[in-house]
Amino acid sequence: MDIYKLNFRIKLSIVLLGILVVVGSLIYTDYLAKRLVERERKLIDLYAKALETAATQEPNANMAFLSEKIINANTSVPVILADEKGEPLSSKNIDFPASMKVKDQTAFLESEIETMKEQHEPILIEFYGMKNFIYYKDSQILTMLRYYPYIQLSAILFLSLAGYVAFNYSRKAEQSRVWVGLAKETAHQLGTPLSSLFAIRDYFREEAPFKDDPMTEELAKDIDRLNVITARFSQIGLEGKLSSEIVANVIEENIDYLKSRTSSYVTYSMKDNTDGASAVMNISLMGWVIENICKNAIDAMDGRGSIAIDISAVKNKICIDIKDSGKGIPKNKIKSIFKPGFTTKKRGWGLGLTLVKRIIEEYHGGEIYVLQSGIEKGTTFRIELKKEV
Ligand SMILES: Nc1ncnc2c1ncn2[C@@H]1O[C@H](COP(=O)(O)OP(=O)(O)OP(=O)(O)O)[C@@H](O)[C@H]1O
Ligand SMILES: [Mg+2]
Repeated sequence: MDIYKLNFRIKLSIVLLGILVVVGSLIYTDYLAKRLVERERKLIDLYAKALETAATQEPNANMAFLSEKIINANTSVPVILADEKGEPLSSKNIDFPASMKVKDQTAFLESEIETMKEQHEPILIEFYGMKNFIYYKDSQILTMLRYYPYIQLSAILFLSLAGYVAFNYSRKAEQSRVWVGLAKETAHQLGTPLSSLFAIRDYFREEAPFKDDPMTEELAKDIDRLNVITARFSQIGLEGKLSSEIVANVIEENIDYLKSRTSSYVTYSMKDNTDGASAVMNISLMGWVIENICKNAIDAMDGRGSIAIDISAVKNKICIDIKDSGKGIPKNKIKSIFKPGFTTKKRGWGLGLTLVKRIIEEYHGGEIYVLQSGIEKGTTFRIELKKEV
C-alpha cells in the first residue's frame, strides 16, 4: 500500500479520535455540571427552609439543633440574605477582597446580588409576614468545573502542537543528515577510481595505438560525465558553492547537453524574456535540477513530444517555466510528487523531484511548484529564483 495514503489515514484517524475525546469530555463535564447545579439548588432550598424554621418556630432543642446543622452544612455555595428592597442582611461563603474595609462591604454585597440574580432565581422566605430573599451563585467548584474542560483542552492542544513541531523538526533534520551524509560518502567513494580513470584517459590520448581509436574519445566523454555526477554529489554534501550566473545561459547549456543525449522525437525550445537577468546559483546542482525535470517530462510523453522553456522576470524574481506535452499529473497526486518515495514508474525511486525541491529551496532559497497540469494536456513546472539586481 502507498505509504502516503496510509500516512493520511493514520493522521485522519488520530484527528477523528481527538475530536471524539474532546466532544466526549465536553459532554461529560456538562452533564456533571448540570447535576451539581441541581444539588446546589436543593442545598439552598434546604438552607432557606432551615433559616425560615430557625427564625419562626417556637424554640425547640431538637429543631434548633437540626436547623443549625443544615445552615452550617453549606460551606461552599455563596449566599446572601436580603430584604424585600434588596438590602443585604447577612451573607455566607462570600470572599471579600482582603483589603476591603467594613464600610464598603454592603456595596460589595449589593453588587454580588446583581451577579447572583443573573445566575439563579432567588428563594423567597417569610419571617413573621416579612418577605426576604436568599440569593446565591455557583460554588467555586462548579465554576471551576465549567471552565476546566476548556483549560484542559487548551493545554492538550498546546502540548500536541509543540510535540508535532518538535517531531517534525527533528524528522527533517534527520532526513537532511541522511541526504548530506549519503551524498558526501558517494562523492568520496567515486573520487578514487575517478582519479585513476583520468590518468588512464590521458595515457590513452597520448599513446598508440589507443590515441587514434575513436573509442578513446567515447571513453573520455563517459569519464567527464562521471566527473559531473561526482561533482553534483559533492556539492550536495558541502555547502554548495554559489556564483552569480546569467540564468538563460545556464539553462541553455544544460538543454544543449540534454538534446545531444535524447531521441530526436523530443523537441526542445527556449524563450528568454529577461534580457539576460542573473541569479545566484550553483551551476552543478542547477544542471541536476534541469536534468531531473526534463527526464520526468520525457517519461511522461513516452519519448515523443516537446519541452518548452520560458524564462521571465516578475518583480524581484526569475521564473523558469518548463512545459511538457506529456500525460499530465492527476490533481490528487500533485501534492505528493515532491515527497520522497512517491513514484508511478515501475523502475522509479521517487527521489528525482525530492532532490530538485531540496536544491531549489535549500541551496538557492527559491521555490518550485506545478504551475499547471492537465490530463493528456501536459505539465508546467515553475522554478522561482531570486533575481540579482
Ligand atoms: N512532467 C511530469 N508529467 C507527469 N508526471 C510527472 C511529471 N514529473 C513527475 N511526475 C510524477 O511524479 C512522480 C515523482 O517524480 P520523481 O522524479 O520524484 O520520481 P520518479 O521519476 O518516479 O523516480 P526517479 O527517482 O527515478 O526520478 C513520477 O513518478 C510521476 O508520476
Ligand atoms: Mg524522476
